[in-house]
Amino acid sequence: MSSKPIKEKMVVEEGEHASFLDNELRPSNWQDYVGQKAVKDNLKILIQAATERGVPPEHVLFYGPPGLGKTTLAHLVAKETGRSIKITSGPAIERVGDLASVLTNLAAGDILFIDEIHRLNKTIEEVLYPAMESGVLDIIIGKGPSARTIQLELPPFTLLAATTRVAMISSPLRSRFSGGVFRLEFYTEDEIAEILRRSAKIIGVKIEGGAEKEIAKRSRFTPRTANYFLKRARDFAQVETRPLNQETVKLALKLLGIDDKGLSPSDRRLLEIIADKFTGGPVGLGTLAAALSEEEATIEEFNEPYLLQLGFIERTTRGRALTLHAYAHLGKTPPANLQKKLL
Ligand SMILES: Nc1ncnc2c1ncn2[C@@H]1O[C@H](COP(=O)(O)OP(=O)(O)OP(=O)(O)O)[C@@H](O)[C@H]1O
Ligand SMILES: [Mg+2]
Repeated sequence: MSSKPIKEKMVVEEGEHASFLDNELRPSNWQDYVGQKAVKDNLKILIQAATERGVPPEHVLFYGPPGLGKTTLAHLVAKETGRSIKITSGPAIERVGDLASVLTNLAAGDILFIDEIHRLNKTIEEVLYPAMESGVLDIIIGKGPSARTIQLELPPFTLLAATTRVAMISSPLRSRFSGGVFRLEFYTEDEIAEILRRSAKIIGVKIEGGAEKEIAKRSRFTPRTANYFLKRARDFAQVETRPLNQETVKLALKLLGIDDKGLSPSDRRLLEIIADKFTGGPVGLGTLAAALSEEEATIEEFNEPYLLQLGFIERTTRGRALTLHAYAHLGKTPPANLQKKLL
C-alpha cells in the first residue's frame, strides 16, 4: 500500500478512506440509511430508470450542513448501482490539467464524487460544463493566435457532488446537475435514536434506559454529532465503570461542555457575544467572526444552521440577531425593543 497521505493524492479509490472515523458507521444500504425520505425516493427512481435504460444515472448535487449524510449517499449510490466510485474534492483540483486527468482516467459507467465542489475555481468549473453536458473535454493546446482546441470524448460517467455552501455554486454549474439538486434535511430525534441504536450494535456497546434518546436530544439533529457523542459516552462509561444509561450520557456530555439543547461552548459564546457586545444584533458576519476570532465559514457552515433551526438567531439583511428563545436559553434579559415584539 502507498504510504502517501491522502491529501497529496487527487483521487482516492473506494475503501482507501477506511481508517477515517466516519467510515465504520457509514450505512451501506438503503435500509440502514435512516430518514431523508424525499431524497432517497428520488434517487431510487433516478437509479432504476437509468439502469433500465442501460445508461449511467444523471449528475446529482447534494447540499446541506456538515454531517447529514452527503458523502454517505454518494457511496450508497455507487454500491446500489454496482459502479466504482472515484473520490476527489474541490480544493484537490488546483489546475485545469488536474480535472482533465481525473476525467480521462474514468472508466465507462464510473461515478465521480467531487466533495466541497464550491471550492472549485471558475476556470476549472468551465471545463466541467461540456464534460457534464455532452461528455466531452475541450483542451486548448498552445498559446496566442496559434492556440487550438481539441476535443476528447469522455466515457459516460455520473458526477455526484456535495457542498455545505450551495449559495456559492454558480447557476450555470447548478443547472448542469440534470439528475437533481437535493437538499439534506436535519433529522428528527426519533431518526437519530434509530441511527444510534444501529451504531451501538456496530461498536459493540449496550445502551440502556433511554441513553440514545438523551444523546438524540442534544445531537444538533445530525448523525455525525450523534455518533461522536455515543463514542464519547461509551468511553466515559468504560473508564468510570458505569452502564451506558441516560445518567452516564448526561455526565459525559457535561464534561464535553454540551448543554441540554446540544449547544457547544462555541455556540454559546457566539450567542453571548451577540447579546453582550452587540445588544442582541443585528451584527454582520465579518464583525461577528472578528469578535469571536473565528473563521466566517465555520460560523456559517457549522454554528449557524443549527442555531437557525432552533430559532435562536435570525438572519436579516443587516446581519445576525438573537431571538427571545436565545435570551431565554442563556438566562439573560432581552433588550426592551425585542420585548416589545411580544406585545
Ligand atoms: N441517513 C443516515 N443514516 C445513518 N447514518 C448516517 C446517515 N447520514 C449520515 N450518517 C452517519 O453520519 C456520518 C457522517 O455522514 P457523512 O460523512 O455522509 O456527512 P456529510 O454530509 O458528507 O458531511 P460533510 O459535509 O462534513 O462532508 C456517517 O459516517 C454515518 O455514520
Ligand atoms: Mg462529506
